[in-house]
Amino acid sequence: MDYLSISGPARLKGEITISGAKNAALPLIAATLLSDEPCSLENVPNVADIHTLLKLLGKLGGKFIFEDHTLSIDNEAIDNTVATYDIVKTMRASILVLGPLLARFGRCEVSLPGGCAIGQRPIDLHLKALEQMGARIEIKNGYVVATAPDGLRGTRIIFDKVTVTGSENIIMAAALAKGKTELINVAKEPEVVQLCEVLSEAGVKIEGVGSDELIVHGTDREPLKLKPFSIIPDRIEAGTYLCAAAITYSNVTLHNVRADHLDAVTAKLHEAGCRIENGVGSMTIYPAARLKAFEISTTEYPGFPTDMQAQFMALATQAEGVSIIEERLFENRFMHVSELQRLGASIHLKGHTATLNGPIQLLGADVMATDLRASSALVLAGLAASGTTNVHRIYHLDRGYEALHEKLKALGADIKRLKE
Ligand code: UD1
Repeated sequence: MDYLSISGPARLKGEITISGAKNAALPLIAATLLSDEPCSLENVPNVADIHTLLKLLGKLGGKFIFEDHTLSIDNEAIDNTVATYDIVKTMRASILVLGPLLARFGRCEVSLPGGCAIGQRPIDLHLKALEQMGARIEIKNGYVVATAPDGLRGTRIIFDKVTVTGSENIIMAAALAKGKTELINVAKEPEVVQLCEVLSEAGVKIEGVGSDELIVHGTDREPLKLKPFSIIPDRIEAGTYLCAAAITYSNVTLHNVRADHLDAVTAKLHEAGCRIENGVGSMTIYPAARLKAFEISTTEYPGFPTDMQAQFMALATQAEGVSIIEERLFENRFMHVSELQRLGASIHLKGHTATLNGPIQLLGADVMATDLRASSALVLAGLAASGTTNVHRIYHLDRGYEALHEKLKALGADIKRLKE
């Protein structure tokens, strides 16, 4: 197993390019199951989660070539509709094949994802919506067994909660359903919007794209002809590097970014005292004179993303005053707190709210990554800390950050990837 060894405190400088969004690429790869013709995706991030989904696609009978961030997929020969436990357990987002497989083949079995480090994360809303579309759903031997021999049919679905992958699953199912599906309280994340845009380009009429109410006009099982497209930039990766610059009082430029997807994040960085200038597809952050405390409450897009909560907690350790961070989406997404405390952070945790006192001079230590975004928070803290911070279990980072240590190195960080 690899770990990252960071010598701090770091001062970063330079330019890096942000990769395509993992959370946009995953549903879009799943959406290729709605087609029986070759299709091509560009700007696909080379991260472990993408390889996991491709492995699943391969097991289903799909063919693909993934080179230089371009992914060519041909799902004509799909002859298996079972997503097995060994794959789903390594990546919950595998559940994204449920909607498209059921819609195209009228039957599929997908292992239930099981527990997760950041909270319970049920999929009840995905299943309830598919049942409303006429599917029969049973849980057998740890698998969701879904059948709809005569296809899915459009209906009106009101999501009890905003769910990102739940919305994506049902949008994909609705694309091949008979008639129109009205979706109320749909997630508005840019990744959901791109899915709708790609499906629209393929001829699926979708009304209300970008809003929380959609009407999807299904093709009645007519497979789609997907046009080539490029994955949107990863707003969470970009936000993480903005935090890396902020926490080290550095001047950094990011390329391949969508500033409009980062409004909630940049607003908080402004509050913390940083200045950010937007260029065309780029963004430059300038250091704060002195980082100031801030308050954050995670919520659905366009609010502050839960996927940036841990990184901002690392930042709050260096901000002057009392910062308050409330996590409203996942009940257990504070696993990084005890690791940040090992570096000397002053954090008081009560229920869903963390209160931090700063600035604290962090001191390097051995810390353990627990989930994808928590891991990046530890790297950020390691950049700010004096001495050596070793971040263990970085396979979590590899799931979603392409070449993290190379990108930080290019910015001048003293960071090494080593074997345990
Ligand atoms: C997606 C993102 C993840 C991000 C999260 C919230 C992907 C691959 N992952 O995860 O990075 O942190 O959105 O922005 O895009 N819920 C239910 N029942 C359901 C589904 C969800 O109760 O059937 C609850 C969840 O427990 C959670 C909330 O709804 O409290 C939001 O979860 P959801 O949006 O579904 O997260 P994911 O789609 O799994």
